[in-house]
Order: sequence, then C-alpha cells, then structure tokens
Amino acid sequence: MVYRIARSALFLLPPETAHALTLDAVRLRGKLIRPPTRTAAPPVSVMGLSFANRIGLAAGFDKNGVAVDGWFSLGFGHVEVGTVTPKPQPGNPRPRVYRLPEAGAIINRMGFPNDGAERVTARLRLRRNPGVVGVNIGKNAATPLDRAIDDYLICLRTVFTVADYITVNVSSPNTVGLRSLQGAEQLAPLLSAVVEEAHALQMHHGKRVPVVVKISPDLAADELREIAKVAASVPVDGIIATNTTISRDAVATHALAQQTGGLSGRPLLAKSCAAVRILRATLGSRMPIIGVGGVASADDAQLLRQAGADLVQAYTGMVYRGPRLVRELADALRV
Ligand SMILES: Cc1cc2nc3c(=O)[nH]c(=O)nc-3n(C[C@H](O)[C@H](O)[C@H](O)COP(=O)(O)O)c2cc1C
Repeated sequence: MVYRIARSALFLLPPETAHALTLDAVRLRGKLIRPPTRTAAPPVSVMGLSFANRIGLAAGFDKNGVAVDGWFSLGFGHVEVGTVTPKPQPGNPRPRVYRLPEAGAIINRMGFPNDGAERVTARLRLRRNPGVVGVNIGKNAATPLDRAIDDYLICLRTVFTVADYITVNVSSPNTVGLRSLQGAEQLAPLLSAVVEEAHALQMHHGKRVPVVVKISPDLAADELREIAKVAASVPVDGIIATNTTISRDAVATHALAQQTGGLSGRPLLAKSCAAVRILRATLGSRMPIIGVGGVASADDAQLLRQAGADLVQAYTGMVYRGPRLVRELADALRV
C-alpha cells in the first residue's frame, strides 16, 4: 500500500531520477536499521557460501554498492553489486531507461555507468551487514574486445577482498561486442583466466571467492549446452541465467518497443525459465544456478526454482512491486 502510493509519485519522474531517489531511501534505511544478529530461518548453502535466504538483488540496481546494508535490511539474502569496470565511465547518453508498465517491463541501454572498481571496492569495505555480496564485473566500453580479459582480471584483483562471489558478465547487450564473449572459443579462455587468477588470489589472501558467469536469454539451446560444457570443464562455481533480452516479440506492439537496449521484466520469465531448465538438464544437479528474469511474484520465483535454480534474483519486479516483494519471494522459497 505504502509503496503503491510512493510508486505513483516515482513513476511521474524520469526512470533514472526515480531510481536515484530509491537508492537514497534504501541507503538511508541501511544507516538507520541495525544489521540483524541472526536470521529467522536456517541458512542456505550454495557455492560454499551461506545465504540467509534464496533471494538476491540482481546486478545493475546498485551498480556502485551505495546501499548494500539497506538491501539486506529489506530482507535480501544476497546483493549483487555492479557491473563495475576497471575505470569509471559515464555509460550511454540519456535517456537510456524506459518503463513499459503495461508489460511489467523495462528497456535499458545504460552501458555500465559506474564509479570504477577501486571506488566501489573502497565503499564495500565500509558495509556493516555480513550478508553475501557478489560483485559483477565487465569491461570498459573503450577497451577493445581482444583485450577484454585484461579488464576482467583488473576488476577481479581490485574487488577480490570485498567480494563474496564474482560474476563474469558476458551478456549485457549495451556494450558493443560483449555478448560475443559467450561463444565457446572466447568463453573458455576468459573463464579459465579468471578462475586461475581467483585461485592465485585465494592462495595470497587466504580467502576463497567463487566465480560465476552471467549469460544471455537470447542463446539457442545448443549454445546454452555449449556454455554449460565450458562452465563445467573450467570449472566455474555457478551460472547466472539470465541477463536482459534484445528480443521484442513479447512487446512488439508497444510504443517503446523499438527503443534500443535490453528488455527485462515479465516478458523475460519464460525465457529465463527455459534457459535454466536446459542448463540444469545439461549440468546435472551439482553446478549451482542462479535464476533471474521476470520474477515479480512468489509463483514466478517458484517457476525458476522448479526449472532448477538454487537462488533467484530480481530487478524489474522490485520497480513494479516495491520492497514487499523481497519477503514474499524469500518466504515462497523457504525450503
Ligand atoms: C536498468 C537495468 C540495468 C541493469 N544493469 C545490469 C548490469 O549492470 N549488469 C548486469 O549483469 N545486469 C544488469 N541488468 C540485468 C539484471 O541484472 C537482470 O539480469 C535482468 O534485468 C533480468 O531480471 P529482471 O527481469 O528481474 O529485471 C540490468 C537491468 C536493468 C533493468
């Protein structure tokens, strides 16, 4: 009810202004509310990490890690910060985010605006809540694709000590060429380099940081199976499925459908479930899968879970449903 009123006001503002206000409110909440000393339900163990529940905030909402304590105070079991790049960058020109309320969807072409890995790392050092924080890493727009591995390694080294897990993002549609890194020939050397470096850093810092890869919903079934094989052979510690889609099939008649960018929200649920199902069938039961895409209710989260996801993340559902969605999803996936 409270969010429904707040939402009416927020939706009068441009999406990025509303987003900045939301982040301010969540950050303030994080400052005011003490971190809980214990959680009500038994924790869930995935990738060797202990999660207070199965629900996480998807990457992109808090790119710079400004409100991590606030997200935990709302009930998230994990928070994925980023995408961060080695150097700060402004992202694409505005406007670059569009709401499609009739479809429960968003189109964005943000292009990784962020403060850069060093500033985000310094900020994450100050968080108080001990919940699981993933850091999603990518490449700067100005870095040529054939030097992409260098950018991922710089980010990994910079954020390693403050990250509980690392997400290698090869699936955002708004950085030119990024998604081509999902092809097996590029993906295998990239993931191998990141995992090898994470092992070296583990020896140095005495801390294990799982590495997961985040993939696109626009891959064909055989491409998904190929990625699953690469992920299992490197091996990485998990797969996040999925990022936003460039398809407009589900919103073809919408006035904003032709805006360039990635579509998220309700139209993505069938695709994210299908991707998770194929990955699970290919990988068997052992590789952790984090399902994301179109979750806006307990039933949606159950669908991803039934498809084979161990953890579930949400972004667009939070925009339309507000903070009460967090507890609703966490309760639905209690077991
Ligand atoms: C405005 C916006 C910005 C996003 N930024 C990122 C990002 O920086 N890195 C990333 O991996 N995913 C990013 N995403 C994708 C989300 O993390 C998520 O994978 C996708 O939106 C599907 O989930 P949803 O339907 O719950 O939103 C972004 C999504 C939106 C809507």
